[in-house]
Order: sequence, then C-alpha cells, then structure tokens
Amino acid sequence: MIKKLNKIISPKYLIIVLISLMLLFFILNQILPPESFEKFTIIFLIFLIIILISFLFLLIQKRKKELEEIKTLIKKIRNNEIEKSDDIILSESLKNLEEEIVTMYNSWKNIIINMKKLEQVRTEFLGNVSHELRTPIFTIQGYLETLLDGALEDKNVNKTFLKKAIHHTNNLNTLLNDLIDISMIESGQMRMSFRYFNIHEYLKNLISEFKLQAESKGLKLFLHSVNEKLEVFGDKNRLKQVMNNLITNAIKYTEKGNIEIGVIEEGNSVIIYVQDTGIGISEEDLPRIFERFYRVDKDRSRELGGTGLGLAIVKHILEAHESRIFVESKVNIGSKFYFRLKK
Ligand SMILES: Nc1ncnc2c1ncn2[C@@H]1O[C@H](COP(=O)(O)OP(=O)(O)O)[C@@H](O)[C@H]1O
Ligand SMILES: [Mg+2]
Repeated sequence: MIKKLNKIISPKYLIIVLISLMLLFFILNQILPPESFEKFTIIFLIFLIIILISFLFLLIQKRKKELEEIKTLIKKIRNNEIEKSDDIILSESLKNLEEEIVTMYNSWKNIIINMKKLEQVRTEFLGNVSHELRTPIFTIQGYLETLLDGALEDKNVNKTFLKKAIHHTNNLNTLLNDLIDISMIESGQMRMSFRYFNIHEYLKNLISEFKLQAESKGLKLFLHSVNEKLEVFGDKNRLKQVMNNLITNAIKYTEKGNIEIGVIEEGNSVIIYVQDTGIGISEEDLPRIFERFYRVDKDRSRELGGTGLGLAIVKHILEAHESRIFVESKVNIGSKFYFRLKK
C-alpha cells in the first residue's frame, strides 16, 4: 500500500489531479446556479487544501524513507559490509544516485588496491635493500676480524684481505649511489635538463673512458660510424648514466668478442644501441631484467660489483625522455640494448 502511495507521490500525479479538479470546477461553474456554486467553491477549496497537505505529508514520508535507505547503504559501505559493487542497491527513484555511489565505490576500491600494492612493493624493496646492504657489510666485517685475529701479520694474506675489503666497500658505495638515484627518480626529484647535443662527439668521448676497461678483458670496444653532424635531444648527464650502465653491463657480461655502440637515423628519431657478444639472457629472464634488484646470476653480478639496479635506473631515465629501452638477446650469442631519442 505504502509502496503504491509512494509511486503516486510524484509531481506528475499532483499536476494531473489539480488539472482534473480545475476542469471539474470550471464545468460545475457552468452548470450549477450561482448560490450553490458559492457553497461548492468553499467545499472545493477545503478539499484542495486537504489534497495538498496530504500530498506534502506523503512526500515528506517518502523523502524520509529515501534518506534512511541512503544512510543504511553508506553505513554498510563504511563498515566494509559490501563486498562488490553489485551489492549496492537503492530503490527505483534513487537509481541515479545508486549509479554515482557505485562509481565512487569502484574508484575508492581501486585506490585501496593500489595502496596495498604500493605498500607491498615498498616492503619488498626495503627487504631487498637490507639484504643487499648486509652482504657486503658482513663480508667486510669478516675480513677485518680475520685480520685482527692475526692475519694482519701474515704477509701472504694481509694485503689480499684488505683489497677484498676495499672491493666490497666500493660495492657498498655503488649500491648507495644507485639507491639514491632510484629514490630521486621515483619521488620525482630528478631534475632533467634537455637540450640538443652532438651525439658523435658524445659517444666518442664516452667510449674512450671505457676503452681500457674493455681491453683489459681482451674485448674490442668500438663506435659504429655515425653522421658526425647529427644532433639529438636529451639530458646529456642522465643519458651518460644510461650509457654507462649499458656499456658496463656489456663489458661485465661478455667474455670474448666485441662491444659495438652505434647510432641509426630513422625518420625524426635516432636509435642508439649497445651490442655485445656476451653470455646473453634467456627468454624467461628477459622481461624481468629491468625490475629493481633482479639479476640472472646474483652471485656473479655481486662479484662484478653489480647492484641489480642499473637497468631499472636506465628504464626510468629513458621514460623521462618519453622513450623506452628495448633488448634482444640470445644465450651464448650476445645482447643488444637500444632506445630512441628525438633528433
Ligand atoms: N649485456 C648483458 N648481457 C647479459 N646479461 C645482462 C646484460 N645486461 C644486463 N644483464 C642481466 O640483467 C641483470 C640486471 O642488470 P642491471 O640492472 O644492470 O644489474 P647488475 O648490477 O647486476 O648489472 C644483470 O644482473 C644481468 O643478469
Ligand atoms: Mg648493471
């Protein structure tokens, strides 16, 4: 009964009732004699007021019920009693509001899911950092304690132990620098300074810095000839970090052969690549090597002074250039890392 009344309590019905009454009033005015019409007018007015008051009363009741319904729903959402958006149901007259609440609920749910994911990533990252710090610190501690326990007097080992301790201190330093970079990049504090520069000059200088390191491993490091006038757009210092990481990796993970660095012009952009004839990366490891701390061979990487953060930094810096890092690799044949820059 109340439900039916609720349906009737709409402005549409009120207008219909009022118009019908007016019509009736008009017709009676025509057919009734003037004295009885006067009486009728009073009765009619009283009747009209009663109708209006009842309508108002029912309307207030209806609104009250709707507010109650909304309050109950909000309470359920607040108390986490709603498991999925399909459980959000309001009566027919509140369908628009129901849609809005569903949209709000879904975006709120997404925010919570993302926050939980971020929290998990942060915890994992902290775990990784502590683990990575612990390894060199324990090793250094071990060497120093052995030296103090007598090895200091042993001419056969004292220098070697000290050198090893220094090697691990250097690793620690690299790790801290990489961590600072990663946190600067991820908190958006890394300032970029984009300008045009001559890529031939740039790569030539870079290669000369790594020549000795490569030759000491018997590797040939060379620049594939490029247009000597070619200018590219980017942040020179940050790109140096990218190239340093790629070239260091190429040298680290190559036992014999050569490392080729080159530039290919393509339309409005240039492709810069670092190609080696090294150990390569298996297909299952390829998609993961840009993750923070991911290393195909952890011990080997650590031994070579790696932190597992280099390629994550490379990826971030290139993203800041609206670019991406690509890799092609075959186990025991070699790897090619490349990216685009605007020219
Ligand atoms: N040129 C390459 N050849 C073979 N493997 C590579 C090469 N570059 C990177 N990798 C693999 O990707 C991993 C992640 O690289 P990176 O982030 O630079 O960390 P790392 O500090 O270990 O060098 C390396 O540990 C290595 O397993
Ligand atoms: Mg590296």
